[in-house]
Amino acid sequence: MLDQTSAIVEHRLALRTALGEDMVLTDAAEILRYCRDWHGDVTTGAVAVIRPRSTADVAAAVRLCHQMRLAIVPQGGNTGLVLGAIPDQPDAQVVLSLERMNAIRRIDADDFSAVVEAGCILSELKDAIANKGMFFPLALGAQGSCRIGGNVSTNAGGINVLRYGMTRELVLGLEVVLPDGTVFDGLTTLRKDNRGIDLKQLFIGAEGTLGIITAVSVKLTPYPDHVATALLGLASLEDAITLFRRARRDCCDLMSAFEFMPPLAFTLAREAMPDLPIPIPAHYPAYVLMEISGSGLVDIDDLMQRFLEAVMTDGLVVDGTIAASQAQARNLWLIREGMNEGQAKRGSHMRSDVSVPLSRLADFVAEAEAAIAAALPDCTSISYGHVGDGNVHLNVLPPDDMTGDERAEVIYASKNVLNEVVDRFSGSISAEHGIGRLKRSDFEDRLPDTRRALLMAVKRAIDPDLVMNPGCQLSFPQIS
Ligand code: FAD
Ligand code: LAC
Ligand code: ZN
Repeated sequence: MLDQTSAIVEHRLALRTALGEDMVLTDAAEILRYCRDWHGDVTTGAVAVIRPRSTADVAAAVRLCHQMRLAIVPQGGNTGLVLGAIPDQPDAQVVLSLERMNAIRRIDADDFSAVVEAGCILSELKDAIANKGMFFPLALGAQGSCRIGGNVSTNAGGINVLRYGMTRELVLGLEVVLPDGTVFDGLTTLRKDNRGIDLKQLFIGAEGTLGIITAVSVKLTPYPDHVATALLGLASLEDAITLFRRARRDCCDLMSAFEFMPPLAFTLAREAMPDLPIPIPAHYPAYVLMEISGSGLVDIDDLMQRFLEAVMTDGLVVDGTIAASQAQARNLWLIREGMNEGQAKRGSHMRSDVSVPLSRLADFVAEAEAAIAAALPDCTSISYGHVGDGNVHLNVLPPDDMTGDERAEVIYASKNVLNEVVDRFSGSISAEHGIGRLKRSDFEDRLPDTRRALLMAVKRAIDPDLVMNPGCQLSFPQIS
């Protein structure tokens, strides 16, 4: 025990001496927020938190950690939901936070591209780009805190995927500090470049296991000045999926969001924001928050009006409201965002992020909710999310008066029941949040041998000494 403690003291001193006091935090109170997950379910520690200001600083820190055999856990906004950004070996790992590398290096409206440092907060990047009349489509509830390097490292999804794709499809190039401290300079903004294997793809979705992303070049589109947002009441999830298919055909590529919510969403959103207006009766079995958008000469309002008239005449949509102003549209989105906050307020619960083929989504949700109700009759299931992508968050809320230990058991049991149904539907246990440490064993249990061998070979080729985020995604022996 003494040896361990004195090793940490020595490591901290060496880091501060080599990198400077300004770059290295070691005080327990100061490092706490980097060592606790967004929901506050897990609090850990770290040898130190390193906060570089430049790519050269990152390279120096990585070389030093490698030399000292300290493992590195990269961190952006720490909004990840799978425990990828906080240490699991606090005595042997440092957190490397990109938060001070937040400069936007270039926005080029003529080239439809921007180059930005990894620590830039997503909403700040979106705002700066909007000020130039352009649009960066990645959009998620955590956008006021998450950082673009974290978004790329998780290959984040969110609400605009059905039109613009996952983060991977928005990335043109990357700058990455590799585990030995060398810099991979791939910050191109070219649209077409088939010079061999596209190496940047390895780092997108790698959750910091192969290197530290220090800068990103991204694809932009014209700013959609015309946006129509509608909240619709329907008879069932099945009808919502029929509506989605119809909207894809009738609104074509102008549909930018299609989010499903059950009526419990309103209760949860109001628990987080008691004054939030709910402009539609809350008794329909299913709701869709739908957005179509465009720029220039397209008449979006007319398209939304005509589309809704048709689907209401056909009885597919029972009730609905179209936002009459940006403020009203914002309030509709606050219902979707507030329901996450409302769940968090109810204490620890099982959160999932699963996908199945769209054609099987309604059956999947019915089966999964029934299986959870049979196994855990006291709990409440709630399924919502990006149904157009075949992706739902099917979460399980334990009864309010359940204690911590019992909650942990319920979370574990409900996750297993759900995953068994996901497997039967040939689905994915992680559609957009990644694997991190939380889902590692469930991921590994399902890995076919060839895929496992390829993943291990990639890791060993790029990070042979296992410096980068050990314990995340795959289990390897820890650095020693
Ligand atoms: P972090 O949490 O800091 O890190 C995530 C992972 O990336 C970790 O493994 C970390 O080690 C690694 N990493 C971070 N930065 C770097 C870097 N520069 N180089 C290498 N590795 C790095 N996700 C979705 O996909 N869709 C959603 O709709 C969505 N909604 C959310 C809503 C809420 C309220 C919250 C709290 C989270 C939501 N998330 C969602 C999850 C989360 O916001 C995303 O995963 C996001 O992309 C994480 O970004 P971050 O900067 O916070 O990364
Ligand atoms: C969402 C997060 C949980 O879609 O991914 O709200
Ligand atoms: Zn989501």
